[in-house]
Amino acid sequence: MGTHRVLEFSGMKKIMLNIRLLLGRVYFRYRGIFRARMTFPTYSEKIGRMISWSNDRVRHATMALALERIRSESIPGSIAELGVYRGYVSRFLHEQMPERDNRFRNTSVEIVKERLKNLDNVEFRIGLFPDTARGLEHETFSFVLFDADKYDVAMASFAFFYPRLSRGGYFFLHDFNSNESDWGVSKAARDFLRGKPESIVEIPDICGTALFRKL
Ligand SMILES: C[S@@+](CC[C@H](N)C(=O)[O-])C[C@H]1O[C@@H](n2cnc3c(N)ncnc32)[C@H](O)[C@@H]1O
Repeated sequence: MGTHRVLEFSGMKKIMLNIRLLLGRVYFRYRGIFRARMTFPTYSEKIGRMISWSNDRVRHATMALALERIRSESIPGSIAELGVYRGYVSRFLHEQMPERDNRFRNTSVEIVKERLKNLDNVEFRIGLFPDTARGLEHETFSFVLFDADKYDVAMASFAFFYPRLSRGGYFFLHDFNSNESDWGVSKAARDFLRGKPESIVEIPDICGTALFRKL
């Protein structure tokens, strides 16, 4: 009787072990579905948590890596966001790099201020770009996020930011692979970058962002 119980027990243990091994294998095979986090990110745990809770992990993580690279390569210049809406991404960028956060804003400035909370180093430019760029001709940028959708605004943003972007600086183009404004962003990028040494890199985020680094 005693021996029988011991055998039953060790049989159960074996089954449990096999189930654990099987679940481990399933997790390993499909972990991309369960877990989109990087194993060794260069950004902080707090930024990692913000990425996990964001509406587009791929885009947020790509921007976070870019900001850390700007820091590690000591690329000089401010951060600009053109097309702010209610400041969701503004908060994310400012959280990671509060020391260089000058950006262009319009729409509900109070909502954006409330979201950012810490307003040190933030310069509000309320109105429509390129008018809002007046007075910033001597500024240098390390990171530009263009998120204003339209062809002519994209062209104006290239004309203003490109010459002021530091070598190695990042230019993010939201809605590049998107039919928003009749593919305005990708048409503008193609027209502006023709003959320039930089090439577009596309990322598989929800809205089809692309980016280039200034050479
Ligand atoms: C898609 S929303 C930006 C969303 C924001 N980047 C985020 O992820 O939270 C586009 C914004 O671009 C703004 N916009 C469009 N044309 C603009 C211009 N010429 N100058 C400044 N902002 C502009 C719109 O008012 C709107 O707030």
